[in-house]
Amino acid sequence: MRIALFASGTGSNVEAILQAVQETKLEADPVFVFSDRSDARVLEKAKNYEVQTYSFRPRDFDNKQRYEEALLKLLEKNQVDWVILAGYMRLLGPTLLEPYENRIVNIHPSILPAFPGIDAIGQALEAEADQTGVTVHYVDAGMDTGQVIRQETVAIDAWETKESLAKKVQKIEHRMYPETLQCMFKKAKKR
Ligand code: GAR
Repeated sequence: MRIALFASGTGSNVEAILQAVQETKLEADPVFVFSDRSDARVLEKAKNYEVQTYSFRPRDFDNKQRYEEALLKLLEKNQVDWVILAGYMRLLGPTLLEPYENRIVNIHPSILPAFPGIDAIGQALEAEADQTGVTVHYVDAGMDTGQVIRQETVAIDAWETKESLAKKVQKIEHRMYPETLQCMFKKAKKR
């Protein structure tokens, strides 16, 4: 499976996936890492794994469609099978969704449909929820609305801070994302 990883920020999930590939826990070929932010830390992280990186900004294109056409070209040129979003903080349009239908996945730090969008961890604390968690899901045009693939919950303790909860959630993410992808790719290969 040839995969492309899209991220906007730190890239700890991208790193967990690249690490899992290196350790042969995830049978996939990471073809490139893309970021919509040229200063994103994920680009440095990818270099440590000798994975090709690309970065360009939507605002440097006439509109979103042109931006996504450039991305699609990159995906097709590299014969990418699956697009893995890991902290890529943009909604996808039909230019990417249609050719890659059911082959784009995302990870989100809540039990969707609860707490979609940005700062899901802050939202869970604000709501005084007893638990939150992690969802891996297919991507559609909505904000964290695609079909759920896997979810894991985590308890929110009374003394929880944003930092402590983020740490717990990320620990789950870093194990769960590579595991879920491995499972999905195995199934897809059998078809
Ligand atoms: C992750 O917690 C991911 O679940 C979240 O962004 C973080 C990125 O961290 N994604 C979303 O909130 C998507 N709506 P990372 O850059 O360290 O992987």
